[in-house]
Amino acid sequence: MKVLVLYFSGTGNTEYVAKYLQKRLLGPLRQIELRSTENTLPEKTAEFDLLIIGFPIYAGAPPEFFGQYLKLLPTVNQKGVFVFCTRAMFAGHAIKDVYELLEHKGYIPLGHRIVAMPGSDGLPFMRKNSTRGKIFKA
Ligand SMILES: Cc1cc2nc3c(=O)[nH]c(=O)nc-3n(C[C@H](O)[C@H](O)[C@H](O)COP(=O)(O)O)c2cc1C
Repeated sequence: MKVLVLYFSGTGNTEYVAKYLQKRLLGPLRQIELRSTENTLPEKTAEFDLLIIGFPIYAGAPPEFFGQYLKLLPTVNQKGVFVFCTRAMFAGHAIKDVYELLEHKGYIPLGHRIVAMPGSDGLPFMRKNSTRGKIFKA
C-alpha cells in the first residue's frame, strides 16, 4: 500500500508533525512518502492508496489557499484519508469542513487528530533569540 503524508506548513509546526508521523509509520507501512502541497500537484496524489493530510489552523480554519488546493484533488472511488491539523488554541470547524469537502470527492474519512503546538501568530511579538517562547515585553 502506498501512503502519502501531504501537508502545508507556514512556519514548521505542521511539517514537524508530518515528519513525526512518517517516521512512526515507516515500520508498519514501508511505503510512506512525505510531501508538501507546495511541491505536489493535486493530481499526483492519485498514485497513492491512502492519504494523510495535515494543515495549520489560521483564524479558526484551514488556510484559504490550502482549501483551494483540496478542491483540486482528483475525485476518487472510496480512497481512505486521515486528517490532522496543528493549532495553538482553537481549531473551529476546520476538520469537519475539510472532511465534508473530501467526502464529496469520494474520500473515506478514517480519523483525525488536532495537535496543540506553539502559536505561530505570536512569533512577531517574540525576541529572535527566545528559547522559552515568552512574549516580548518592552
Ligand atoms: C495568521 C495565523 C492565524 C492563526 N490562527 C489560529 C487560530 O485561529 N487558532 C489557533 O488555535 N491557532 C492559530 N494560529 C496558530 C497556528 O495554527 C499554529 O501555530 C500552527 O501550529 C502553525 O502551523 P505551521 O507552523 O505549520 O504553519 C494562527 C497562526 C497564524 C500565523
